[in-house]
Amino acid sequence: MIREAADYLRQRIASWPETAIVLGSAQASFAGELVNPVSIDFSEIPGWPAPSVQGHAGKLIVGEAAGVPVTLVSGRVHLYEGWTPQQVVFGVRVLGLLGLKRLILTNAAGGIKPSYRRGLLVLITDHINLQGSNPLVGPNDPELGPRFPDMTRVYCPEFRALAKSAAAECGVDTGEGVYAAMLGPSFETPAEIGFLRAIGADLAGMSTVPEAITANHMGIRILGISTVTNMAAGMQAELSHTEVLEIGRSSAADLASLLLALLPKLKS
Ligand code: HPA
Repeated sequence: MIREAADYLRQRIASWPETAIVLGSAQASFAGELVNPVSIDFSEIPGWPAPSVQGHAGKLIVGEAAGVPVTLVSGRVHLYEGWTPQQVVFGVRVLGLLGLKRLILTNAAGGIKPSYRRGLLVLITDHINLQGSNPLVGPNDPELGPRFPDMTRVYCPEFRALAKSAAAECGVDTGEGVYAAMLGPSFETPAEIGFLRAIGADLAGMSTVPEAITANHMGIRILGISTVTNMAAGMQAELSHTEVLEIGRSSAADLASLLLALLPKLKS
């Protein structure tokens, strides 16, 4: 199925960008930054799962941002919606078959590190997978990658350094941290956040990790950027999806500035 989707997309667009950005909750507005955009609805692509959650649109948009060819994945699907791990990573695999080299994964996350604040952009240094699944379970397709991929440097340190200098150039404040992936869809309890803090997590979220595991399997270099949309459970009065969307949207301008300053730097 991934090959069928890749063949279909090759017919639609002859030359696919080597860089893609997966836009998380409330970050779809970045699509407005693309020059000469060509948009393809997920529903047109054979096998591509179409999302349901509020704040996610469901299309691929190919164009140029800051002069750099880029594919935007607007509307990722999540495990908590009931999609299988293989469906969740379908798009990453298809883009990998189309020659993707660099993947920027953005998301909304709860901040566990006390020095974080709402709206802060955090560069992901590593992750802890607590989703209870792994998209690589099942027969391995050696054309995609090895059976037992190394996970020592999933998030490219060089990309992170470039992102930090891009952020400094445009006056955007960033943090760094470890992202813990939870299944969701309920937010964590304060006791779970205490556990996550104890095991070294700085952020809690419900996405990104399946895509990162899959891209790493395929040898694609990854940058992960979380928007802290709320402090984690027990650190603020209560949590709501409305707040996640509101803070996500209000910090979208910072994310856009950072991405536009960063894209021309990502050459390797
Ligand atoms: N926990 C998990 N996922 C999230 C959160 C959170 O606090 N905020 C946004 N996504």
